[in-house]
Amino acid sequence: MNYTKILEQTTFSEIPIDYTWSFSHKTIKDTAYITHGYYTYPAKFIPQLAARLIQENSKEGDIVIDPFMGSGTTVVESIVHNRIGIGTDINEIAYLLSKVKTTPIKISDLLQEFSNLNFDLQSRLNGQYDYFLKKAEQILPKNERIDYWFLPQQKEKLSIIFTRILEIKNNDIRDFFLIAFAQILKSCSIWLQKSVKPTRDLHKKIYDPLTLFLKQSKKMIKKHSEFDRLLNQNIKDNIDKFRIVKCDDSRNVPCENNTATLIVTSPPYVTSYEYADLHQLPSMWFGYLSELSEFRKKFIGSAYKEDRGKIDLKSSLAEKIVLQLGENKKGREVKNYFADMLETFLEMKRVLKKGGRACIVIGNTEFCGVQILNAEVFQEQLENIGFETHDIIHREIPSKMLPSTRDTNTGQFVKATDKNLKLAYPTEYILIMEKL
Ligand SMILES: C[S@@+](CC[C@H](N)C(=O)[O-])C[C@H]1O[C@@H](n2cnc3c(N)ncnc32)[C@H](O)[C@@H]1O
Repeated sequence: MNYTKILEQTTFSEIPIDYTWSFSHKTIKDTAYITHGYYTYPAKFIPQLAARLIQENSKEGDIVIDPFMGSGTTVVESIVHNRIGIGTDINEIAYLLSKVKTTPIKISDLLQEFSNLNFDLQSRLNGQYDYFLKKAEQILPKNERIDYWFLPQQKEKLSIIFTRILEIKNNDIRDFFLIAFAQILKSCSIWLQKSVKPTRDLHKKIYDPLTLFLKQSKKMIKKHSEFDRLLNQNIKDNIDKFRIVKCDDSRNVPCENNTATLIVTSPPYVTSYEYADLHQLPSMWFGYLSELSEFRKKFIGSAYKEDRGKIDLKSSLAEKIVLQLGENKKGREVKNYFADMLETFLEMKRVLKKGGRACIVIGNTEFCGVQILNAEVFQEQLENIGFETHDIIHREIPSKMLPSTRDTNTGQFVKATDKNLKLAYPTEYILIMEKL
């Protein structure tokens, strides 16, 4: 896209859609290739999108960063394409998941551990149930919210599986099986399937934890062997030099000044998903969550933030949007969001080399009847702190990939093919900004 043409537009929505970025021909199986399908993470990238951005904007050996790494899509694609992948996320589950998805493990070791787990769990869940349940009760984190989400028998079986996983000595293998465990938790709980808001469904069909756990583990071992075959031997042997993942804030990326070539990221949206709430099931089991309300405050875009007073947002459009929302909670939330994003952009500037690019995938939203033009605001903020616009791609989100189609009455995710529904974010933008 010719940038001078973009300058004439009033809003980005008039930029013609570039359908080569839709990846609509990719099946769900394609997008879950190698380690990408281990855990259902909301609003994750299509790996092929991250891969194309990496290939077009960096070369082998370069540093590629995702400060909002989520399920680790960018980091996985970076190492698969022989780059150094660095990522941060404030959510411990995202960190654990990204670590597991990028850690090579000998497949024979995984198979051996799977066989031991299978053998022990069959006997513990059948013959020696009471003995192992007592043992599990002694080490399980005490959290009354576990009882809120799990029926007693499900909780018992899960705690026997969980404590057996914790007995695994090798950290990488233990974490691998913890992710398999995390992935089955929703199906074993009474969490209303596919709901954006944490809601209970007391009539939900509940599945057997052991059957689900073994099935998920088997699937992941198969995918891990595909990953193992694809990864360059030098990267496999020196993985800690080629990928750095950290549970940390996007404003504290583990990378030296002026060294990275590329950033590929999709930031959180303002009050769209409460990531802290969505990941509370594994967070509770793994003992990451003592106080849900404190946990929420760390997330950018969360509704749970204090007023930070007057802040220079470095965007006149952002000021206008905040003014339109008014001096109330909503206005404060959006102001905090743009302020937090501005701080993240300054961190991106710190780590990027001159000429390095930040590819930011973002859509526009509506909040209380006010258009939140995230993409336009981000571009203005970035240009005001020392970036120039290299390109803006307007892409369609194929309906099968669209996680955000929701029924406004029930809050549930629903199939995007339902003609009565308005798509939440049918298109989005890829801002490609270059550091001056
Ligand atoms: C849209 S998701 C990213 C998904 C990712 N592109 C993927 O493919 O899985 C946004 C992420 O931002 C993270 N996040 C929110 N606030 C953060 C903060 N202050 N620092 C770092 N990450 C944060 C959320 O936990 C979430 O994982």
